[in-house]
Amino acid sequence: MVNFEDSVCLVVTGAGRGYGRALCLAVVPHMHKKSVVILLGRSKDPLEQTKLFMLQKNSSVTVYIYDGLECSSLNEDSLSKFVSECVPALSSTHSLLILHNCGTVGKPSLKGTDYKLLEANQYMLINFSSMVAVNNILLKQLSVCAQKTVVNISSLCAVQPSKGLSLYCAGKAARDMFFRVAAEECLSVRFLNYAPGPMKTDMLEEIQSSCYDDVTRDMFKGIQCVKMEDSAAKLVTVLREDKFVSGSHVDYFDPLPS
Ligand SMILES: NC(=O)c1ccc[n+]([C@@H]2O[C@H](COP(=O)([O-])OP(=O)(O)OC[C@H]3O[C@@H](n4cnc5c(N)ncnc54)[C@H](OP(=O)(O)O)[C@@H]3O)[C@@H](O)[C@H]2O)c1
Repeated sequence: MVNFEDSVCLVVTGAGRGYGRALCLAVVPHMHKKSVVILLGRSKDPLEQTKLFMLQKNSSVTVYIYDGLECSSLNEDSLSKFVSECVPALSSTHSLLILHNCGTVGKPSLKGTDYKLLEANQYMLINFSSMVAVNNILLKQLSVCAQKTVVNISSLCAVQPSKGLSLYCAGKAARDMFFRVAAEECLSVRFLNYAPGPMKTDMLEEIQSSCYDDVTRDMFKGIQCVKMEDSAAKLVTVLREDKFVSGSHVDYFDPLPS
């Protein structure tokens, strides 16, 4: 479990904008002094902005920034080295909370049968394989933290097909299954697949503007969005209550696990 009564080590991928930033801002007020935040992304300025907003909400945390997380060409050695440099700020009393948030939607203008090998490979590299590798680096390098929780930011698309989102649906389903297996293999870590609900972000705009299927595009245009802050706050409640089954899929719209 994430023990918010003591110090926490929070790691967020894609922390510079959209839901990633909202997650950071939702968790930080709950963080005890001596907590550590590791923001991962690929552009320095947006990460610095997230850091600034976090410190405005809670100035007692230490925030580290790594701007080399390009998931299409992951540099494992560089990430590993950076994370190892954060370890001296940690002890076994820190609960580790990893939020795998980075993601892309693919090309909603294409049907699944239109993708070629390179495009499909590139998609899975960014959205699945890199996440697997980043997860392994983080769990290994941050093993000093006695209690560990890993959250895959999932989607309804992991369990429900949607036209125009073939790779997105397949990638999210793969991530969910990866964590279902991890939950069985690694009983000392808590794994959660959290679907945050539809939110007004760049990703949603991309689907609304480019989905090849008129009906699906109109459905996404008319969708009732969830506020990013509300969705992130619900995740914090799910984590605080810690009643979810490890490896399970929990949606924003589900009742709290009991
Ligand atoms: N918005 C929704 O309605 C919705 C619904 C369900 C699930 N989700 C999930 O929520 C998560 C965040 O999405 P969002 O809505 O906030 O979308 P977004 O605004 O498009 O943000 C995507 C994030 O992923 C990062 N990213 C994209 N490509 C990357 C790459 N090649 N290497 C490293 N980082 C990369 C982006 O970093 P840069 O800033 O560097 O580009 C950004 O931080 C995703 O996993 C998404 O599937 C969203």
